Amino acid sequence: MISEITAARTAAEQSIAAASSLDEIRVLDTDLLGKKSPLALLKTGLGKLTTVDEKKAAGQALNEAMLAVEEVLNARRALLGRAERDVQLAAEALDLTEHFNAPSRGKAHIVTQAWQRLEDVFVGLGFQVAEGPEVETDWYNFEALNMPPSHPARSMHDTFYVDHGQPGSTVLRTHTSPVQIRVMQNVAPPIYMIMPGRVFRNETTDATHLAVFHQIEGLVIDRGITLADLAGTIEAFTQAFFGPGFTSRLRPSYFPFTEPSAEFDIRTPKGDWLELGGCGMVHPNVLRAGGLDPEEWSGFAFGFGIDRMAKERHGVGDVREMYTNDIRFIEQF
Ligand code: PHE
Repeated sequence: MISEITAARTAAEQSIAAASSLDEIRVLDTDLLGKKSPLALLKTGLGKLTTVDEKKAAGQALNEAMLAVEEVLNARRALLGRAERDVQLAAEALDLTEHFNAPSRGKAHIVTQAWQRLEDVFVGLGFQVAEGPEVETDWYNFEALNMPPSHPARSMHDTFYVDHGQPGSTVLRTHTSPVQIRVMQNVAPPIYMIMPGRVFRNETTDATHLAVFHQIEGLVIDRGITLADLAGTIEAFTQAFFGPGFTSRLRPSYFPFTEPSAEFDIRTPKGDWLELGGCGMVHPNVLRAGGLDPEEWSGFAFGFGIDRMAKERHGVGDVREMYTNDIRFIEQF
């Protein structure tokens, strides 16, 4: 009996080892451990044994054999299960690298890049950033900036009017200077602010002029601010933005909203002078329009074109090229 049990166990273990799929394991489970399995049949034969000792020994051997076969079966099932899952995963895997012709990644427009770099440089100098509306009232765009109706300086701004409210009361802002007033009305001094944005002029476009372009405005309001602070800030900006080989100068000029006023130029390492923008000490009337007392506060303002900066920095011949959105042009920057 014992030898029959051992033979059945060995045979069972061999067929388990030979099984190569979970389906075969399922069949073997019934064949080797079910009611009609060789070991089960041997169990029914226990009764025919004569002595108690024989029965006990054979019973014990049978139990051990059943447990051993079950264990081997489970181990084989686990192994084959893992192998089958691996095969399935490999079959279902998606190789995304095959799409090597995927579209290339886009990037910021040349003017956006200049805008962001200007913000970075000024934030590095301690400025904060504010923005104002592109559609403005006549008051913010002109009157609060010391340009009452019929002021001759208004003719320098070829204005687009918006058909809204009283005729002539609503404009597309011709510069970012109206944001100065909005900032003064909303932020308690000291103010160290830059105000980038889109502006509009009703004029014919050419290689150096666009009807829709971008400016960045600067406004500093504090106690005891002087023209030296303005000149120093422009110089610090010039070196930070263009590099150490560049310097700046102020040239007397006129703007209704600053007094005194100046144009500022930068000198390239080659020695060429480049006109960049306007600036000056904020006019007392402008401080008053912004709700500030000119006896207590003083400040300076500056403004210049962002598109112009991008043009000069990259040597673009014609500003209009920057807005044709020809991908062959855009991709170069
Ligand atoms: N707003 C002026 C322009 O568009 C530039 C400027 C800004 C001048 C601030 C002085 C002070 O030409």
